[in-house]
Amino acid sequence: MWLYLAALVGLYYLVRWYRERQVVSHLRDKYVFITGCGSGFGNLLARQLDMRGLRVLAACRTEKAAEQLRAQSSDRLETVTLDIAKTENITAATQWVKERVGDRGLWGLVNNAGISGPSGCNEWLTKQDFVTTLNVNLLGTIEVTLSLLPLVRKARGRVVNISSIAGRLSAVGGGYSISKYGVEAFSDSLRRELAHFGVKVAVIEPGSFKTNMTNTERVLRQIREVWDQAGSEIKEIYGRKFLESYLKLISEHVLPAAEENLSEVTDCMEHALTACHPRTRYSAGWDAKLFYLPMSYMPTFLADAILTRILPRPAKAL
Ligand SMILES: NC(=O)c1ccc[n+]([C@@H]2O[C@H](COP(=O)([O-])OP(=O)(O)OC[C@H]3O[C@@H](n4cnc5c(N)ncnc54)[C@H](OP(=O)(O)O)[C@@H]3O)[C@@H](O)[C@H]2O)c1
Repeated sequence: MWLYLAALVGLYYLVRWYRERQVVSHLRDKYVFITGCGSGFGNLLARQLDMRGLRVLAACRTEKAAEQLRAQSSDRLETVTLDIAKTENITAATQWVKERVGDRGLWGLVNNAGISGPSGCNEWLTKQDFVTTLNVNLLGTIEVTLSLLPLVRKARGRVVNISSIAGRLSAVGGGYSISKYGVEAFSDSLRRELAHFGVKVAVIEPGSFKTNMTNTERVLRQIREVWDQAGSEIKEIYGRKFLESYLKLISEHVLPAAEENLSEVTDCMEHALTACHPRTRYSAGWDAKLFYLPMSYMPTFLADAILTRILPRPAKAL
């Protein structure tokens, strides 16, 4: 009985491995539009797909970053400046893409641009802090998608949304996790709707990787800024010792565990764009696979107990 079961599991993985190795044809004629190509995953993916021969349309937030990317890639890669929080920018970028792809349509849309935004305990934050993050990570992603979908539908292409493992488990306060839960929800409904048109939607859920977003100095500065703006009553309830322990946890345990090999993530993105049978979800990074994802499936009381123990205790806790 156990032998049959093992053979069945082995067969499942063999079939899956074979299916996932099938690559779509005519990659050199396919256009892929990527947001947030100035640094991190977006930058590496743009160069990786360019090397593979796809026609990369790379959007950077600044012209300086676009210039640097052009200098590091082939003449086939083209850039445009795009701030995904600005509607007029999105309209102009859509027109720019239309002019390039013509009747072929857009094969791939990669919604990668994002910010970590102000973070800390929820009570230290203002509504505007949440709005800042949601405007880019969630509403920017939605607006770019809505604007470019007609072109993707024409090519029966792919939408690849970069969520995060924070979109499966919310461990810290602030808008980041909320925005990524939103990206997951948006991707789920989009995937079901677009299946009717031959468009596939994939979500990438990386754990922690070393990019500008996870730069220790930057993260600690953001948390300190949020703490500074909190009212005196909140500061008294949490206490200075809480802040120091919180910062220590982030700087000595969470961020140093971030992985360096960004291609673990960009390989997932590339697979989602080039495989005949892409996965619905890709998780990348050992922390995502071994810690956060399993914890997201645990009973809530158990996950709560673990995370509450890891986080420091406020000064005025009961
Ligand atoms: N690093 C991680 O551990 C991790 C884990 C899970 C998920 N992710 C996700 O991966 C994606 C890429 O992040 P990353 O880690 O590669 O960080 P990154 O190096 O900071 O890259 C983010 C990119 O997005 C751009 N961007 C920021 N705001 C933008 C806006 N309003 N409009 C257009 N572009 C904007 C940034 O441009 P500027 O630099 O010019 O602002 C930058 O090029 C994000 O969606 C992030 O949430 C990252």
